[in-house]
Amino acid sequence: MVKISPSVLSCDFKDFGNEIKKIVSNGAEYIHIDVMDGHFVPNISFGFPLVKAARESTDAVLDVHLMISDPEKYIERFADSGADIITFHYEAAENCGEIIEKIHSLGKKAGISIKPATPPEVLKDLIKKVDLVLVMTVEPGFGGQKLIPECAEKVKVIKKMCVQAGCSPEIEVDGGITAENVNMLKENGANVIVAGSFVFKAENIKEAISQLKG
Ligand code: DX5
Ligand code: ZN
Repeated sequence: MVKISPSVLSCDFKDFGNEIKKIVSNGAEYIHIDVMDGHFVPNISFGFPLVKAARESTDAVLDVHLMISDPEKYIERFADSGADIITFHYEAAENCGEIIEKIHSLGKKAGISIKPATPPEVLKDLIKKVDLVLVMTVEPGFGGQKLIPECAEKVKVIKKMCVQAGCSPEIEVDGGITAENVNMLKENGANVIVAGSFVFKAENIKEAISQLKG
């Protein structure tokens, strides 16, 4: 069974606490929180206070996606703010192994993410160390984009690499995901589905989440 991680980037921020409660009560397992710094990606979103507010609103898993430069500088504060899974970008880090160890030493799950142009093979030695691999299916930075089909193929490669290495991190996909394209991602091995606009802009959130679960 896949897990659904709605991205709060598309939620109604003037009613943040209730938006969080609404997705959890309608079947979401994780809450996806997209942190952007205006440097690693050309957009700025939010930071520690919002993670804290989410923590105060739910006991569900907070899945924090850091689209920031120098992630190592901020890991501790995201952990203190209440993140459960801390995912950073391979492209933003000099020493991924050390960052993963740091996240684990704080008692949190570690995820690593790759952008559309980054080949999955760069993660060969890291898949055994992480709890989650996040394959971006759009260029990070904005919600509401169209999924890039070639990225879906990378999920298959990651899955195969994990089987060969004898490890089983969660495989998460993020960007442009709808009821129409979710099946191919699942078939390729994804088991955590991020969806922003498809969930938050839906007329019926429960229905949208259950369509993604299939
Ligand atoms: C993009 C973010 C995504 C985004 C997904 O940089 O990482 O999580 O919010 O939004 P949709 O599902 O609308 O593409
Ligand atoms: Zn994300």
